[in-house]
Amino acid sequence: MSITTTLGIIGYPIGHSISPLFQQAALDHLGIEAEYGPYAVKPDEVGEFVEGLRSENAIGINVTVPHKETVIPFLDEVDDWATEAGAVNTIVNHSGRLTGHNTDGYGFLRALRESGGLEPEGRRVLILGAGGSARGVVQALLRAGVGELHIANRTVARAETLARLAANRGVPATPLALGSADVAAAAAQADLIVNCTSVGMRHGPDESGSPLAAHQVPATALVYDLVYNPMLTPLLRAAEAAGAATLGGISMLVYQGAASFEIWLGQPAPVDVMMAAATAAMPAREADAT
Ligand SMILES: NC(=O)c1ccc[n+]([C@@H]2O[C@H](COP(=O)([O-])OP(=O)(O)OC[C@H]3O[C@@H](n4cnc5c(N)ncnc54)[C@H](OP(=O)(O)O)[C@@H]3O)[C@@H](O)[C@H]2O)c1
Repeated sequence: MSITTTLGIIGYPIGHSISPLFQQAALDHLGIEAEYGPYAVKPDEVGEFVEGLRSENAIGINVTVPHKETVIPFLDEVDDWATEAGAVNTIVNHSGRLTGHNTDGYGFLRALRESGGLEPEGRRVLILGAGGSARGVVQALLRAGVGELHIANRTVARAETLARLAANRGVPATPLALGSADVAAAAAQADLIVNCTSVGMRHGPDESGSPLAAHQVPATALVYDLVYNPMLTPLLRAAEAAGAATLGGISMLVYQGAASFEIWLGQPAPVDVMMAAATAAMPAREADAT
């Protein structure tokens, strides 16, 4: 007899999400009879949907834009990562009690270490962007003992807010204006450059753009782009041309999803299966390069 369970992702809109593809691949691989669905939930329906997760058939859900903050009042508790981020991307139901987690920072660090081969402790890092993902990345890097931060954003006030957060934790952090000469200087000194803007994202605000000019990308840094569609962004293409090491956003996406899977099901996620399914869902790198 098949068991009907609720696992899935809520957002609005939700059609772009590839989480259903790689989470379902993991469930099928392990023979777990559950369906991971995309749920398009409008902002005024979030409370009712989350209340429904207290049912005995509900295991949990992922939460994406624009609900990561608005779900919080409907939960019984949130973990440390989610409290720090002020955002929840995973909800788990334990006998009617709902707990919110945030696995983005964990996914970012695991991808950095395992796919990028870089330990951030003591390193100089240039962050491009100061929105929701940049906040999670800064918090993850602070937890990992980062040495020094430069944070560059189009809206400098947001970079200043993030820099203060780091400085309050005792880490030197300098806010910068994206595109300024100071960003080029910070890039030249950086061990790691992380793009947390949506520049370069397919169907995004500046699809063909790069948050750092090609000639400013140093050969000596690891260039990590959180954008995962396309897999080869203009920034990563410039980094490859400069001879720098690169890391795309798909790895973080899969690792944050794997952490959610483990929270829901209490067993190791088949990361290789998830990575293969996620990669297969992306347009080919060769097509991106043309
Ligand atoms: N790989 C993963 O698992 C993962 C996880 C999370 C996010 N992401 C990706 O990361 C990107 C950012 O997500 P987010 O949640 O941080 O978004 P967000 O909160 O909306 O922040 C967007 C950031 O991009 C900047 N930006 C937007 N348009 C720009 C432009 N034309 N020129 C310069 N800067 C611009 C914004 O600057 P202002 O402050 O000046 O507006 C802000 O810093 C998205 O592409 C998302 O898909 C990937």
